[in-house]
Amino acid sequence: MTDRSLLLSSTWRDRVAAAAADLRARGIGGRVGLVLGSGLGNVVDRIERPTAVPYGEIPGFHTPSVAEHHGQLVAGLAAGVPVIALQGRLHPYEGLAPEETLLPVAVLAALGVETVILTNAAGGLDPHFLPGDLMVIRDQIDFHWRDPLRGLLADPLGAGAAVGRVPGPLRVYDPGQTQALVEAAAAAGVPVRQGVYASVWGPSYEPKVEITVLRRLHCDAVGMSTAPEAMLLHALGVRVVGLSCITNPSRETGQPELSHQDVVETGARVRERVADVLLAALPRLVGDPG
Ligand code: HPA
Repeated sequence: MTDRSLLLSSTWRDRVAAAAADLRARGIGGRVGLVLGSGLGNVVDRIERPTAVPYGEIPGFHTPSVAEHHGQLVAGLAAGVPVIALQGRLHPYEGLAPEETLLPVAVLAALGVETVILTNAAGGLDPHFLPGDLMVIRDQIDFHWRDPLRGLLADPLGAGAAVGRVPGPLRVYDPGQTQALVEAAAAAGVPVRQGVYASVWGPSYEPKVEITVLRRLHCDAVGMSTAPEAMLLHALGVRVVGLSCITNPSRETGQPELSHQDVVETGARVRERVADVLLAALPRLVGDPG
């Protein structure tokens, strides 16, 4: 594996390295990283022999300001696979710069994980989606309209980094690992769809006219996270898969008002199913069919 720290800009590299060194000194390591979205944090209850470190104790980490995002890293074994879970995510809408929101996933990469499963709560744009449906992310569109990795990578215009940043047909989500996730869900008896995730700024939920536009652009689900994380991890050579929990239908199809509490409650209702899928997937993602 190339030294991933060399892919980071010199200003960010030391910060990422300091946090990773602190965690390594606590014995934290793992093969698969898990990023747990709104309402899905309880997946950590399935981790055996857990070591939990509050974000506040990790050098440079912010504590999430969003309710239900606990802000701790939990490492241990899940389905026999060493994992490092981020229970609590930092979002651009909290007013944080990318070097803050992306630090936790950069640290997962620095700790040497091979794959990261990004999970999130999302609104369904596909009119067939119902609250509680799961969507494996086949691809994404990042509607932040600015490169979230600006200034974070070494030599962004240099040949090596450019090759890493603009991968062939822009397949940020690893096809083989994505297929493994779909097959694991089937094996766990949990139906999943596949689709395109649109990442927007928030924090307000989008008005109807934006929903109409996103649908016309063939987006199947919309949320406020994940795409920048996926781009960074991919640029650092980490294989990425994504799983959205559809917490609400898009309001164009009738839901009058939506609150963060609605999103969290639906997440809580289906999080055991999400955990079943993740646990079934983990051995497959590391090449051990279990
Ligand atoms: N829009 C944006 N983000 C979301 C939604 C939504 O409808 N539901 C959950 N996260």
